[in-house]
Amino acid sequence: MSATETADPNRRDFLYIATGAAGAVGVAAVAWPFIDQMRPDASTRALAAIEVDVSAIEPGMSVTAKWRGKPVFIRNRTPEEIEAAKAVKLDELKDPVARNANISADAPATDTDRSAGEGKENWLVMVGVCTHLGCVPLGQQGDFGGWFCPCHGSHYDTAGRIRKGPAPENLAVPVFSFISDTKIKIG
Ligand code: FES
Repeated sequence: MSATETADPNRRDFLYIATGAAGAVGVAAVAWPFIDQMRPDASTRALAAIEVDVSAIEPGMSVTAKWRGKPVFIRNRTPEEIEAAKAVKLDELKDPVARNANISADAPATDTDRSAGEGKENWLVMVGVCTHLGCVPLGQQGDFGGWFCPCHGSHYDTAGRIRKGPAPENLAVPVFSFISDTKIKIG
């Protein structure tokens, strides 16, 4: 075997390792927001409930936590987003039911009943699964400024209520509560 032939595999090995390392950095950067949200609960990941620290979520921002294998959107709404949702009359809604597991099953989909309730109306907590066929909608998008599901074009408003497109129901509000001013327990 010549010196040239032995050099080639070495170079390939080096390139392979370098590429692998760059790939690993990319994955870590993407995974970080999820891991950060999960950290308070790392030791109890397998349990049904998670706790999420929301102190860093400014008005207009949202995060996605993971709960029972599903994404959960937590959004701190701006006053304008709340106003827009409150201005909608119930008879304009495709689904007039709140779909909020924390209140009665037939409660109407008013903005207050979709949100974390009086005094915390800026907070929306919802399972991030489109009620059409289960895609994950994109936040701060769509014709109503809430969420948009690109799979088949469902538009949700700033209270997570379905307003246009094939989805039949509002995004589901899971069981949750504030266990302190800055921490939400989901489940
Ligand atoms: S899954 Fe969202 S519109 Fe079809």
